[in-house]
Amino acid sequence: MIFHMSLRSNPLLRKTNLAVWRAWRSWKLSLHSSTVCASSGPDPLDRSEALSSVSSEKPPHTPVMLKEVLHYLDIQVGQVVLDMTFGGGGHTKAILNAVPEVTVLALDRDPTAISLAEQLAKEHSGRVNSLLGRFSELEALLSNMNIKPGSIDAVLLDAGCSSMQMDQAERGFSLSKDGPLDMRMDGERYPDMPCAADVVNTLDQQALASILTAYGEERHARKIASAIVVARRINPITRTQQLASVVAGSFPPAVIYARKDRLHRPAHVATKTFQALRIFVNDELNELHSGLRAARAALKPGGRLCILTFHSLEDRLVKRFLQDDNLSNLDQYHFSPRKQSTVKEKKDGGSVYWVQVQRKVITPQRDDVTENPRGRSAKLRVAVRR
Ligand SMILES: C[S@@+](CC[C@H](N)C(=O)[O-])C[C@H]1O[C@@H](n2cnc3c(N)ncnc32)[C@H](O)[C@@H]1O
Repeated sequence: MIFHMSLRSNPLLRKTNLAVWRAWRSWKLSLHSSTVCASSGPDPLDRSEALSSVSSEKPPHTPVMLKEVLHYLDIQVGQVVLDMTFGGGGHTKAILNAVPEVTVLALDRDPTAISLAEQLAKEHSGRVNSLLGRFSELEALLSNMNIKPGSIDAVLLDAGCSSMQMDQAERGFSLSKDGPLDMRMDGERYPDMPCAADVVNTLDQQALASILTAYGEERHARKIASAIVVARRINPITRTQQLASVVAGSFPPAVIYARKDRLHRPAHVATKTFQALRIFVNDELNELHSGLRAARAALKPGGRLCILTFHSLEDRLVKRFLQDDNLSNLDQYHFSPRKQSTVKEKKDGGSVYWVQVQRKVITPQRDDVTENPRGRSAKLRVAVRR
């Protein structure tokens, strides 16, 4: 069982997860019989099936804020671009089509996404190099390819999950499609890595509530954690819709769809619970922090970084990184998200490493949101490496 080392080592999460850390420690000691996903049974995700389901006419992922991303990356003929989140390849394909002789290094932690990148590499001989791994592994992957730090012209990081992951019930990300409660972006790459079902069936109530508060900003975290603990005594929670029902069952029926998303459409009351579990299972905030540092190391002076985020935890981290680049006091920041930053900015408004191209965050046009509702909460930040 892979243990979240980063919970101990990263100040961003250390304090937030004290309760979680204790629970993981006791969990680690009591393992071996109880995990749901860390099994040696058949692969719950048949990748060939997944690939054929995404290779039809419908693109597997509609790239978010594509016009803006192409504009701000400002890629020139013959440059080298790093797409840190290949996903369904929407942004990469647009980059290849927009600029001649560009080479794209395509990273993703999801083996299914990387299979797509390999297909694309065959179609664009010599222009796409796929890299299977996490942001935290990127520096080593680039070094293995003899790509020197400070040699990349532009980097794109489109955070979170792809539509391809959300749409496949077997991946367990979706609240609306029943599937095993999995949520691991890495698929079966790390068979010992805990999945969402392991988390909800094993952690104690306090740890579950901490996760829902920290990563879902869920006001009713304690009530939901208590409902989960009661429900799992009767039956382990192993399916996405089972979890959605358990969460819904802790609220009066009238409020199950009372929350609204940014398009003012009804959102299920378990949405934040799902977000929190996904972030926790995939260690997403630590990974994002690693990704930003890796991008900083990879870019050449004058190189451009575009980052798309989809919720406030991600955007706050990115904003802070681009302002100051020093996240050593982020645990404090993370615990009091609305607290004003105490960071002193340089007179030109930038950091030692970055010049921000737009001071204000860039959001999607109304038409784009109507066409691609998944991009409704997108925020784009752009910076140039000093
Ligand atoms: C929003 S999707 C990217 C979609 C892509 N831009 C497109 O147009 O198709 C995000 C992708 O990033 C990958 N990802 C998320 N966190 C990652 C990490 N820490 N390391 C590597 N890949 C990651 C996910 O597996 C997912 O495929």
